[in-house]
Amino acid sequence: MLEVIAKIREEALARVAAATSSEELEALRVLYLGKKGELTRVLRGMGKLPPEERPRVGQMANKVREELEGALKEHRENLSRREQAERLRAEALDVTLPGRPVTRGNRHPLYQVLNEIKAVFIGLGFDVAEGPEVESDYYNFEALNLLKEHPARDMQDSFYLTEDVLLRTHTSPVQVRVMEARRPRLPIRIVAPGKVYRRDDDATHSPMFHQVEGLLVDRRVTFGDLKGTLMAFLKQMFGDQVQVRFRPSYFPFTEPSAEVDMSCVMCGGNGCRVCSHTGWLEILGCGMVHPKVLSMSGYDPEEVSGFAFGLGVERVAMLKYGIDDLRLFYENDLRFLRQF
Ligand code: PHE
Repeated sequence: MLEVIAKIREEALARVAAATSSEELEALRVLYLGKKGELTRVLRGMGKLPPEERPRVGQMANKVREELEGALKEHRENLSRREQAERLRAEALDVTLPGRPVTRGNRHPLYQVLNEIKAVFIGLGFDVAEGPEVESDYYNFEALNLLKEHPARDMQDSFYLTEDVLLRTHTSPVQVRVMEARRPRLPIRIVAPGKVYRRDDDATHSPMFHQVEGLLVDRRVTFGDLKGTLMAFLKQMFGDQVQVRFRPSYFPFTEPSAEVDMSCVMCGGNGCRVCSHTGWLEILGCGMVHPKVLSMSGYDPEEVSGFAFGLGVERVAMLKYGIDDLRLFYENDLRFLRQF
């Protein structure tokens, strides 16, 4: 019996000394000293020994138990000190390290220009309106006098979702939506910025681009009001020296219609590559709201008149910053974007 205890002692002390974690130590404690542990079993089995052996065996077993408990305690303390030191090292925070700089972003150049355009028109008394990008055939074409058989309608090569629903090809449908929603209140003075979609894709055309629509409806609105408004806008956007000219044009929803050119911002009108040596840059389309469009939206063209215009935000941004490839706006290349 004494030999068995001696063996248990030797083995237990060796294993405690070799343990590398608190969990391992606890497992050893259970294995030797727990309720069903090896040493406990020896003490329990003492009843079967002859009475004269019991004191010695009991004494030895108790001594070993104390010894083992002491070893466990000591080793547990060592280990937990070491484990804590390791944890502290792993979590160490070096408060003397320099901080990581927070890099500051900036607004996308297109939206900077868009905000500038909005700000100029807000200054002229316009409100900002919005309309859906997924639009019905009615608002995108029909209510703008682009009737089913109208050539401009298949000229607009569009993204259709169903026969009657498409991605809007221009922001002009917002004209109709606003007129319907505000009728009969006058005046209507809105700009409507947003994305538009056409099936085009090259250095100067993108399948998605941005327009700002303008609409003013009131009594006795004249082409002179249109000219004055657009000249004020272009001078604020590009500087007082800019020259503006109106060329007769055609849109089904305006009559008369005009294309607006401004003197080339690159060469000041002398002629260069950007303006194809004409000295002029085409910047937007406009006109007086067609009487049919007014009446389809519930206004009497005998009583009210209005003007409308539409301009491409990418085009304005390219001219303002001298950017020659439209695709740069959509590539998310930070080397480009950081310049603005
Ligand atoms: N919607 C026209 C286009 O996309 C622009 C325009 C708007 C022209 C309003 C006249 C009046 O080309």
